[in-house]
Amino acid sequence: MKFFIDTANLDEIKEANNLGVLDGVTTNPSLMAKEGISGGDRITKHYVDICEMVNGDVSAEVIATDFDGIVREGEALATLHKNIVVKVPMIAEGIKAIKYFTDKGIKTNCTLVFSAGQALLAAKAGATYMSPFLGRLDDISADGLALIEEIRIIYDNYGYQTEILAASIRHPMHIIECAKIGADVITSPLKPIMSLLSHPLTDKGLAQFLADYAKGNE
Ligand code: E4P
Repeated sequence: MKFFIDTANLDEIKEANNLGVLDGVTTNPSLMAKEGISGGDRITKHYVDICEMVNGDVSAEVIATDFDGIVREGEALATLHKNIVVKVPMIAEGIKAIKYFTDKGIKTNCTLVFSAGQALLAAKAGATYMSPFLGRLDDISADGLALIEEIRIIYDNYGYQTEILAASIRHPMHIIECAKIGADVITSPLKPIMSLLSHPLTDKGLAQFLADYAKGNE
């Protein structure tokens, strides 16, 4: 399973990348705004900075919601760097644009997916990635993980190559459950990724080993 980090914060991207397990980055307009990145040129430069830090796919989201606008923005984003994946919302114009980008060999991430039907359309349009937002479903008392399970079955039934990119991860158990279900990729904030490291028995065991070593070398 690939690990992407879901942030536009360069320090967090650096920290995850330094761990040596990072396969890519996803951003969205809200994450860019959170870092105070606004205005065409600054946003563009930020995408390039991220691409130069990480050896993997970096999702850059279009703002347009009409076919021509999505294509114009997506083509411009795709020229920024070889790592760019054009992130397109799950709307009719977005699906048309994903099909267009697929035919042109431009990688896409179909975002804001909340149902199996939407996931099926994204795969038929040839999306490289399809992002079901599991945390946001959990937030409204629906079952985000059950949706990912359902999509896994559908994609496997027909051998769709679109990768399931589990998004809106809230905690480390979301990551574990996604791995059990067979999501191809998770995109997570830094904290749940780093939380995977922790176990009190690891800390206790290491403290004991170091103490015993020190005793033997007194
Ligand atoms: C995915 O690509 C989105 O950027 C993200 O996972 C949304 O997560 P949120 O629900 O925590 O905003």
